[in-house]
Order: sequence, then C-alpha cells, then structure tokens
Amino acid sequence: MIEYIRKSGDNMLNKIVETVKRAGEIYKSAGSDLEVIKKGSNVNLVTKYDKMIQDFLIKELSAIIPEAHFLGEEGNDNKELTDGYCFIIDPIDGTTNFIKGYQKSAISVGLAKDKELFIGVVLDPDLDNIYYAQKGCGAFLNGKPIHVGNEEMKNSLVLFGTCPYEHEFADKTFDTAKKIFLQAIEVRRSGTAAMDICYVASGKADLFFELILRPWDWAGATVILREAGGIAKTAEGSNVDPSKIQSYICGNKKNLEEFYEIYNS
Ligand code: IPD
Ligand code: CA
Ligand code: CA
Repeated sequence: MIEYIRKSGDNMLNKIVETVKRAGEIYKSAGSDLEVIKKGSNVNLVTKYDKMIQDFLIKELSAIIPEAHFLGEEGNDNKELTDGYCFIIDPIDGTTNFIKGYQKSAISVGLAKDKELFIGVVLDPDLDNIYYAQKGCGAFLNGKPIHVGNEEMKNSLVLFGTCPYEHEFADKTFDTAKKIFLQAIEVRRSGTAAMDICYVASGKADLFFELILRPWDWAGATVILREAGGIAKTAEGSNVDPSKIQSYICGNKKNLEEFYEIYNS
C-alpha cells in the first residue's frame, strides 16, 4: 500500500522522504572545516553542518506542512512537543562519528500529530540507506519491507548507547552491557541511536538500549521500529513518550522480557 502511495508522488511521507534525501546531500558536501563547537560539556559537540541541515529541514518541511511546529536538537528554539503537527528533528545523530569521519550517522525526522508519532524517516547518508514508515502502512528500507527479528536473548546481537553526556549512567550501562554480553551473541556500540533503532527494525540487530535519550534521538526511528513489528519501552517498562527525556529499550517481546530480568538482577 505504502509503495502505491509513494509512487503517487503527492503525499506527505513521499515528500518528507525526498526532503531528507536532499538533506543528505548537505551532509555529504562536508569539507574539512566543520566548525566544531562544544555544547556545554567537552564531549557534546556540534558542527556547522548540524545547523545547516536543521535549517534546511525546517525550511523545506514547512513548505510541506505550513502550520507545523518544530522540535529540533540544535538552537535555543522550542524544545517542547506541541499539539497539531510537530516535526521532531535530529539533523545529525552521531555528530562525534561525523566529526571523526567514522561514517556512521543518521539524519532523523519524526512527525507527530497531537503528540502521537505517525511518520518516521531516517537516512544513513554514508550508505545511502533510507528507512521510512507511516503508522498503519508498514516499514521500508529503500523501498523493501523490513521486519524486526524474533530471536531470544541467547541469539540476539545487542546494541547499546553509553549516555555520553551523562556519565552518572556509566556504571549501570556497562554493568547491564556486561551481563548481556555474557548471555547474548555479542554487543555493539555504534554512536547513533537513530540508526541503532533502525538496525533493530530491519533485523540487522535484535535489541537496543540506552539509559537516557532525547525525543529527537528516537522519534523518527520508533515509527519505523513499530511498523516493523518492534516494541519500544523505558527501562521501567512504560511506553516511551516523545515529550520526555528518558531511557529507551527496543526489541521483540521475548528478548525485551529477558532484558528486564537482566537489568533488574
Ligand atoms: C547521540 C547519539 C549517541 C547516543 C547519545 C545521543 P548526537 O546523539 O545518538 O549514539 O549514545 O545518547 O545523544 O548527540 O550525536 O545527536
Ligand atoms: Ca542525537
Ligand atoms: Ca544530533
């Protein structure tokens, strides 16, 4: 169904997909001078490309939905999820990777209506992979349907984030990662939560956890994950809320249950 909608070329999801692909061209045009600035702490960095991509997305997405509000990572504008249409944007998720030339980042756009997420588009600009979904229409990677795996923990490849801007979570994070490492196939730390969630959505990995994330890190990818059959929860077991800063776990029903046993042990 969604492919039919996308081919019609005249719908919201299709237009957002095309806009995010164009934002990827800005990412790829980056030269050697990124103009890196520290945001508050020594490890929280931003570049001129984060700002350029966010400005581009706000301008172009405003043309698609003129009445839309924006919740974007960069700048000092609104950081609240609003009623009506609200785009939730992370212009570069994985800025440290981008600065280092590690080639693993994402451009992420989520769209909520009255605080309910319903469209997600996430681009991996280094691999030209675009993941997208609309509530009720399935999830796709470059036009092909994607699905979450159904592995239990012992057969899971587990991704995790280190909460790099909140070191007080390091003990619990690495304690949990060690316990999971001893039970699962292996663990990985990529540096981009949006892409980690898309990897779970497409069955390239089986579970992801991070003990603090902001809505722009996960909003777009979570629509994709859910449409691919995955579940996203907080560490306390409640549904994730795009108006909150909170923990984030995603996977399938089986390995999430096992995650909670390990996490609470
Ligand atoms: C970060 C990345 C990273 C995660 C951090 C996020 P940023 O986003 O997603 O993987 O561990 O918690 O803040 O700062 O690169 O946009
Ligand atoms: Ca981010
Ligand atoms: Ca970012």
